[in-house]
Amino acid sequence: MLTISDLHVGYGHGTVLQGVSMIVPRGTVTALMGRNGMGKTTLCRALMGLLAPSAGSIRLDELEIGGRPPHRIAAAGVAYVPQGRGIFERFTVEENLELGVAARGGRVPAHVYRWFPTLAELRRRTAGTLSGGEQQALAIARALVSEPRLLILDEPSEGLQPSLVEEMGSLLLRIVADRHLTVFLVEQNLALVRRIATIAAFLVDGRIAGGAAARDLSPESPVIHRHLGL
Ligand SMILES: Nc1ncnc2c1ncn2[C@@H]1O[C@H](COP(=O)(O)OP(=O)(O)OP(=O)(O)O)[C@@H](O)[C@H]1O
Ligand SMILES: [Mg+2]
Repeated sequence: MLTISDLHVGYGHGTVLQGVSMIVPRGTVTALMGRNGMGKTTLCRALMGLLAPSAGSIRLDELEIGGRPPHRIAAAGVAYVPQGRGIFERFTVEENLELGVAARGGRVPAHVYRWFPTLAELRRRTAGTLSGGEQQALAIARALVSEPRLLILDEPSEGLQPSLVEEMGSLLLRIVADRHLTVFLVEQNLALVRRIATIAAFLVDGRIAGGAAARDLSPESPVIHRHLGL
């Protein structure tokens, strides 16, 4: 579904991604792992059109999306949950979700509230007053209201306690199965990657340094030692 080829992306003069190539097969959760500062978020931003690549290509099926503006990429079926969530804290839960569909004049699909019953109960609450877990759920729900084909998640487990990470993992698996969604998951949480991803790739110094079947990974795996230093 997503094919990234020899992608170069940077800020100003510095190149952060120096030839990233990877594929995300349709209907899978494909994980990208790597230490802090390796360029994981930079890759997410380039996939969503928030940073223009200096070279290489990003294809969504047959469509070249590299360098296109974010609204075009969103319209092609890509949604993004940024690191740190990026919800509007002063707006209510419902308003945050409505903003997710406002651009296309749509309504919040009922199945989104079915996946996230807690958010349905908290509809009128100001987003900034929600717990960390609820805010992350809101960020994911907001990305899903546009009914994307590809969901990009940048470290969704960050700052969440293990029980909430597990809950989020179960919900993501259910949504992937329900909607035939494809997920590009940036994560440093090995437990979540093992539970929901098929393949994990490792980003090291702006390049993919290898990949592994997610279920075979453990804290003792040499690739984990080498690339994550766990
Ligand atoms: N806006 C920016 N301007 C200039 N350099 C940046 C900017 N954002 C990130 N960088 C640099 O790009 C490199 C990659 O950063 P990035 O945020 O993509 O890493 P990351 O793998 O997502 O890290 P983390 O695990 O901490 O989220 C780092 O050296 C960082 O300092
Ligand atoms: Mg990051």
